[in-house]
Amino acid sequence: MALKNKDVLGLRELSIEEIDEILNTAELMKHILTQNNKRTPHLQGKSIVTLFYENSTRTRLSFELASKYMGASAANVSASSSSVAKGETLIDTGRTIESMGADVIVIRHPMSGASHLLAKNVDASVINAGDGMNEHPTQALLDMYTIREKLGRLENVKVTIVGDIMHSRVARSNIWGLQKMGAEITLAGPSTLMPVEIEKMGVKICSNVEEAVEGADVVMGLRIQKERQHEGLIPSIREYADLFGIDKKKIELASPNVIIMHPGPVNRGIEMTSDVIDYTASTINEQVTNGVAIRMALLYLLTRRRVIEHDMY
Ligand code: CP
Repeated sequence: MALKNKDVLGLRELSIEEIDEILNTAELMKHILTQNNKRTPHLQGKSIVTLFYENSTRTRLSFELASKYMGASAANVSASSSSVAKGETLIDTGRTIESMGADVIVIRHPMSGASHLLAKNVDASVINAGDGMNEHPTQALLDMYTIREKLGRLENVKVTIVGDIMHSRVARSNIWGLQKMGAEITLAGPSTLMPVEIEKMGVKICSNVEEAVEGADVVMGLRIQKERQHEGLIPSIREYADLFGIDKKKIELASPNVIIMHPGPVNRGIEMTSDVIDYTASTINEQVTNGVAIRMALLYLLTRRRVIEHDMY
């Protein structure tokens, strides 16, 4: 099955069948990742460009490695060292990259909707690697992959997401995606960092972490996004850590088979204590590995879609 659209912009737009296809393809890609020789010819002759207007370690590197493992040419454009700094618009930058033969442009941008704008204005496939407070679909896909790999299913899994929900594109993508796949979502965080009317998305809201974590199969911490915080949303980092930081005592309230997740980067001792981050139930490093498999799967499915379209006309 091919993906319906030329782009992957959000979990909101993906169907259950498309999510299943991506997760199943990632399973094959993970098998390749465990081989001594990781090289495959799936993307031979293709060009992948990462266009990042915000910092990144995991997402950018995993797209670059995924491209290289599969035989594509990979290049990065970072806003600070490119002609973006001279005032070039996003659309002009995208068209410039496309004119050099890019098949896929992976974009991270501080403005919600930036990836949609780019996708409308280029023929290349666009993958949203995080747009403002909107979505971070590849993170949610790797999170769903990790949950399915660890717990064997997504249906009826109780997922508790703790932290700064308001600024979190990871939370939004996970809510869209996990609910589509039949998981139950509970959110906990300071009321000042909880979006108004978020319960309309069908999630349960708890004001304290202990209640939210009780019986959870998955506890996912979120980063405190200092760069997106306005003054006064939390009284102090120390108070936040005391009330909303995930520690072993809170984890004991969860299901005995709980898995602990975090998209990274983690602020140790704020969102989670070190003993939780490094606990055997923590999947934080496996999430990073699975991120490469998910990105390999997406690049493969999107470029294969382009070949099918090309053959049709
Ligand atoms: N999880 C995530 O998006 O991490 P990076 O900012 O390092 O890409």
